[in-house]
Amino acid sequence: MTIDLATTPICNDELGLLQGLASTRAIRRYLPEPIPEQSLRDMLWSATRAPSGSNRQPFRFVVLTDSDKAIQAKALIATAAQSIWNEKRTNDQYDKGSGSDPNSPKARMANVMQHYVDNFSEVPALVLPCLVRYRAPNPAEGASVYPAVQNLLLAARGMGYGGVITGFHRPVEDQLKALLNIPEEVFITCTVTLGKPAGNHGPVRRRPLPELVYGDTWEQAPGWAIDPPGTRHTQAGPPKGSKVV
Ligand SMILES: Cc1cc2nc3c(=O)[nH]c(=O)nc-3n(C[C@H](O)[C@H](O)[C@H](O)COP(=O)(O)O)c2cc1C
Repeated sequence: MTIDLATTPICNDELGLLQGLASTRAIRRYLPEPIPEQSLRDMLWSATRAPSGSNRQPFRFVVLTDSDKAIQAKALIATAAQSIWNEKRTNDQYDKGSGSDPNSPKARMANVMQHYVDNFSEVPALVLPCLVRYRAPNPAEGASVYPAVQNLLLAARGMGYGGVITGFHRPVEDQLKALLNIPEEVFITCTVTLGKPAGNHGPVRRRPLPELVYGDTWEQAPGWAIDPPGTRHTQAGPPKGSKVV
């Protein structure tokens, strides 16, 4: 049965906004299930509700599922992803130190990444969030696209799906543009893969709030900047006081 999306309202989500926000983790393992068109519509509608400078909405989303072109685009990015990850796995010494213990967080992360890039061609949906440039490239130009990208991830989370942002398209950007008729001046900002998570959602882990929030003196947290109970932390990211070089 075909659903008339023009008369179908956006789905109801039961997850609270803040609860969803705190548990929208990078999801890199998907069940082998297509995403129904109605769900894609609801996710992309939610994504495009994002703010942008002067409400110009310079974002465009290329959504690829199972067409011939989609299969080719996924394969192109899969090859790039495998080579980027292989290099990172070696350079960042994922298999050394604590990584030699298969139960360590480092080894588990390496397994998830390996599985992700090895199966990239099979992701249920591949989204290319693009920026239609209306002025010369500048460092802030992504600012009118990334809120929409995060909205996409949050909407996916609210609907029981998950996804992850990557930069794996970069080595094959020209081939992707040729394949998908994307004009040369359009900037493919990132890739987002989406699907039903094979594992569970869970709380994101970040550095302690006082390391991330300052008051009127740099690196001095206000007294109220305290993590609520149950907050999970991570060691990832630069330690407090480290300098940008
Ligand atoms: C700008 C940006 C680029 C990213 N690039 C990649 C990438 O190339 N490959 C990948 O697997 N994840 C990528 N990620 C996902 C991050 O690794 C992930 O969000 C981060 O480790 C936090 O994990 P969590 O969201 O599960 O807490 C990227 C995220 C952002 C925001």
